[in-house]
Amino acid sequence: MAESMHGLKRTCRCGELTPEYIGQTVTVMGWVQKSRNKGGIVFVDLRDRAGIIQLIFEESKVGKEGFEKAAKLRSEFVAAVTGEVTRRSGAVNPNLKTGEIEIVAKEIRILSESETPPFPIEENSKTKDEVRLKYRYLDLRRPDLQRNLMLRSEAAALIRQFFTEEGFLEIETPVLNKSTPEGARDYLVPSRVHPGSFYALPQSPQLFKQLLMCSGYDRYFQIVKCFRDEDLRADRQPEFTQLDMELSFVDVDDVIEVNERLLQKLFRLVNVEVSIPFPRMTWQEAMDRYGSDKPDTRFGMELVDVTETVKDCGFGVFTGAVENGGSVRGINAVGQGAMPRKKIDKLVDFAKDFGAKGLAYLAVNEDGTYKSSFAKFMTEEELSGLVKAMDGKPGDLLLFAADKNKVVWDVLGNLRLELARQMELLDKNEYKFLWITEFPLLEYNEELGRYQAMHHPFTMPMEEDLPYLDTEPGRVRAQAYDIVLNGTEIGGGSIRIHQNEVQEKMFRALGFTTETAYQQFGFLLNAFQYGVPPHAGLAYGFDRLIMLMAKEDNIREVIAFPKVKDASCLLTEAPGAVDKEQLEELGIEVVKKQEEAEGCRR
Ligand code: AMO
Ligand code: AMP
Repeated sequence: MAESMHGLKRTCRCGELTPEYIGQTVTVMGWVQKSRNKGGIVFVDLRDRAGIIQLIFEESKVGKEGFEKAAKLRSEFVAAVTGEVTRRSGAVNPNLKTGEIEIVAKEIRILSESETPPFPIEENSKTKDEVRLKYRYLDLRRPDLQRNLMLRSEAAALIRQFFTEEGFLEIETPVLNKSTPEGARDYLVPSRVHPGSFYALPQSPQLFKQLLMCSGYDRYFQIVKCFRDEDLRADRQPEFTQLDMELSFVDVDDVIEVNERLLQKLFRLVNVEVSIPFPRMTWQEAMDRYGSDKPDTRFGMELVDVTETVKDCGFGVFTGAVENGGSVRGINAVGQGAMPRKKIDKLVDFAKDFGAKGLAYLAVNEDGTYKSSFAKFMTEEELSGLVKAMDGKPGDLLLFAADKNKVVWDVLGNLRLELARQMELLDKNEYKFLWITEFPLLEYNEELGRYQAMHHPFTMPMEEDLPYLDTEPGRVRAQAYDIVLNGTEIGGGSIRIHQNEVQEKMFRALGFTTETAYQQFGFLLNAFQYGVPPHAGLAYGFDRLIMLMAKEDNIREVIAFPKVKDASCLLTEAPGAVDKEQLEELGIEVVKKQEEAEGCRR
């Protein structure tokens, strides 16, 4: 039966004990990692969030009853033990922080017993994700997850301290809102008091933080939950946390400077010294060199534009793309010339997944001949010109995409990453930060047949591009910036529009009428009638940041209770059905889609 801890006080955590404690009597409480009964002696490893300590139970020290209790201990039992810290009588364990010491128990209480857990509570679990997430409370006992969540907590504390010292105020913004213009689908919450009306959960606190600037708070930050109903990926969750900020009377350099200092401090938590300032690159340069607006700059393999070289060659795929206003670009997978045909075919399929019609390849053989899918369409001279433009050497594999720029960038940008993974060029211990600036303000949405804001409608155009906002919206660049780390967009922000005339032009470019703009953002536009300071801001994906600091590949590993791909929680089984009465009260009727009506999900 479980005993009470009445009268006992924990004096320290298991993993906090050091040889300095030798000779002291301590009380530890924690979970049994393992126990070994060696006849007259029971050895137990007791674990808490700080680590593990070895306990020794001998009848002569702990008494008959105590020894019997110790012999009963099994994995994940919770025990309280009082005893003396001594130098280990047996071999020192160099793998353990407390490997030189042990506790000779004088008293033991079993505070709670445990069933055999469905998987061992240990580092680097091989357990399937579904099982880990179903028993998340056990998974969270594992040292790697505990380290990650402790890091997350330390980072949040550092952020609060940093921003407070820099004169920022932490202000909370509401969760039940009208829809914000971040571009993903909203999560809606029905209103009982206003049947048929819905709140939207915030995709970000964007409009509120701008209002706070209007209200004179000057510098705001918040560590805040945001909600986006979008397809999940390794670095996306439907609810995630932003480190959000907004500043008044600042320019791009001010925002960047304070954030570089913050990131430098944060990475010291994981013993990484990053040098600041970080490099900056315009969006155009990032696309041209890496085919991505979040390039991983830990390795080269840059894109080469060979449009000029091939525009008059004999290969119709290339010339056709150029004639249609597109481009031909390539990457040089150095030293991959001997890649077997089957593997190249896999790369072609990979490229097709990103919208390529094909992927042309040319391997430069050691004897100077070529193995290629298109060499037969080109003269020797055209081929050598192309190989030269690509800086191709014997043993190299050159890969080309020909299409509209957007497709070519996407295909080669992703292919470059795939090759880097295959060639093991990605070093998790290397941290390459990069600011991407001068994004296009708008992007054309073919489906909607109109322009859309690339960031959001309140992003300030670059001054010199303002005249084109009415005439050539596609060429206007934004005063927006993203912060990229090792190919992941960890944050983004912009200078905001604070002049009504510019905002009106922007709305026109986006196809809003004055009326529709007021319907959606009236409260912000009204606020802008009463004195609005120039302001700017930025938001990080806090989970992504911690993921990279912790060298994890999935943000689930740094979120206590994450959701899975279909946005459900395997632990609580959310989302779930609700009572008929609850729905009636909300004035909601559920219309089942055909496939759900046939085989209800759960
Ligand atoms: P943005 O939409 O770029 O900007 O979001 C900021 C950062 O949040 C992270 N992020 C996510 N992380 C996990 N799961 C998601 N589903 C997810 N979506 C976004 C990314 C991203 O860089 N209001 C603006 C910021 C501003 O202009 O100040 C905004 O929300 O790391
Ligand atoms: P085809 O003439 O369609 O057999 O194509 C010849 C080679 O060009 C094959 O290796 C195709 O994969 C490749 N290819 C086809 N379309 C493209 C394209 N848009 N960009 C690059 N390579 C392509």
